[in-house]
Amino acid sequence: TYVVTDDCIKCKYTDCVEVCPVDCFYEGENMLVINPSECIDCGVCEPECPAEAILPDTEDGLEKWLELNTKFSAEWPNITQSKEPPAEADEHKGEEGKFDKYFS
Ligand code: SF4
Ligand code: F3S
Repeated sequence: TYVVTDDCIKCKYTDCVEVCPVDCFYEGENMLVINPSECIDCGVCEPECPAEAILPDTEDGLEKWLELNTKFSAEWPNITQSKEPPAEADEHKGEEGKFDKYFS
């Protein structure tokens, strides 16, 4: 599966949702997540994210993000159409440590 990571927080560009063939993105206040049991591993969303927030869970150290994507995709609403990113999105692009600072 692919997972959404720290870099999405406060950016939420939502380009990813437009290309997913199985509509498996879910939207929280500060970030999106992927439902790992719905993701078919096609990889088309990865290059679409301007924040480079989407990664395959085969990369090292992503267990926390796999857990988080699994948990919140069961709670948050599905999102299938892109929308305007938050006004401050570009300021938060590439910022370090966003999970600790902003995720609640
Ligand atoms: Fe959707 Fe493919 Fe991205 Fe999985 S890898 S979330 S199926 S676009
Ligand atoms: Fe987030 Fe990137 Fe999608 S910033 S909303 S994962 S395009």
